Amino acid sequence: MTEPTIPADLAPLGDGNPGPAVVKAVIPAAGLGTRFLPATKATPKEMLPVVDRPAIQYVVEEAVRAGLGDILMITGRGKRSLEDHFDRAWELEAALEAKGDKDRLEQVRESADLADIHYTRQGDPRGLGHAVLCAAHHVGDDDPFAVLLGDDLIDERDELLTRMIGVQRQTRASVVALMEVDPTQVHLYGCAAVEATGVDDVLRVTGMVEKPDPKDAPSNLAVIGRYVLHPRVFEVLKDTKPGRGNEIQLTDALQTLAADPATEGGGVYGVVFKGRRYDTGDRLDYLKAVVRLASERDDLGPELRAFLREFVAGLPAE
Ligand code: UTP
Repeated sequence: MTEPTIPADLAPLGDGNPGPAVVKAVIPAAGLGTRFLPATKATPKEMLPVVDRPAIQYVVEEAVRAGLGDILMITGRGKRSLEDHFDRAWELEAALEAKGDKDRLEQVRESADLADIHYTRQGDPRGLGHAVLCAAHHVGDDDPFAVLLGDDLIDERDELLTRMIGVQRQTRASVVALMEVDPTQVHLYGCAAVEATGVDDVLRVTGMVEKPDPKDAPSNLAVIGRYVLHPRVFEVLKDTKPGRGNEIQLTDALQTLAADPATEGGGVYGVVFKGRRYDTGDRLDYLKAVVRLASERDDLGPELRAFLREFVAGLPAE
């Protein structure tokens, strides 16, 4: 795997001496998925198919594309199928081999060969901050690491993670992904107070608040499911008390780091993302992801687009 080079336009953010490479990714996937019940009663939401691959496979592929070949997945009760999906399936492979179905055999093997995937269980799902803290032992104290939420899809044509890794190495701080949302939607996200850095798509985060009331929101910049964090976040998370929803919030730990930019490992930057992103844990966004990605595929697209045109033409006017 080749390490991405750091773009020259990020130079003003650092002292010309980039920090260590980012090689590990953490994928929290232990949440309960209540927004998608009853589908998620016995099936993890990360395993819901987006066209013909489970949502989490897109996330793992994104990590691998960014050079992160060492992945720790945070799972929990009822999430066994995640491990099975990224493992070999000997019986299935033997049956496909006997049939001479080479294409499907390749697809089945592909998910088992993607990356070096490790698992740890969260026990009680006590919040995203707690899930990230479960990765402390695997990640260690020295190197920055990426966090990719297992139900958040970034379209592979819209690069985000590599840019965030570049910003992390230049600043040696922590980096979040920010996306402009309609002000009426900020209460669904963590929200950031920001100031300019001189690099167009990079902002300094001066404060963060989890799911604010729209009238108290510091901006309409929502934190979406990609992070590249300094390992100091573990020390902070250990002392972070349960916050909103009685959960240990990653946002609260990042707020502590944002308020301490002068100390090593402190400070938070935001990379503004303008591409396509789907929250597959939300039913409507999930449907949009399936329709968009399937309609753009070579194998399914032509017939699906013809169906959609006819379907839309037959819709009653609102
Ligand atoms: P969500 O906010 O989507 O929560 O978590 P959720 O519980 O999974 O889903 P809903 O809101 O009940 O429908 C964001 C990410 O953090 C993980 C989730 O799996 C998801 O990837 N998470 C959340 C954990 O791993 N552990 C937790 O305790 C909470």
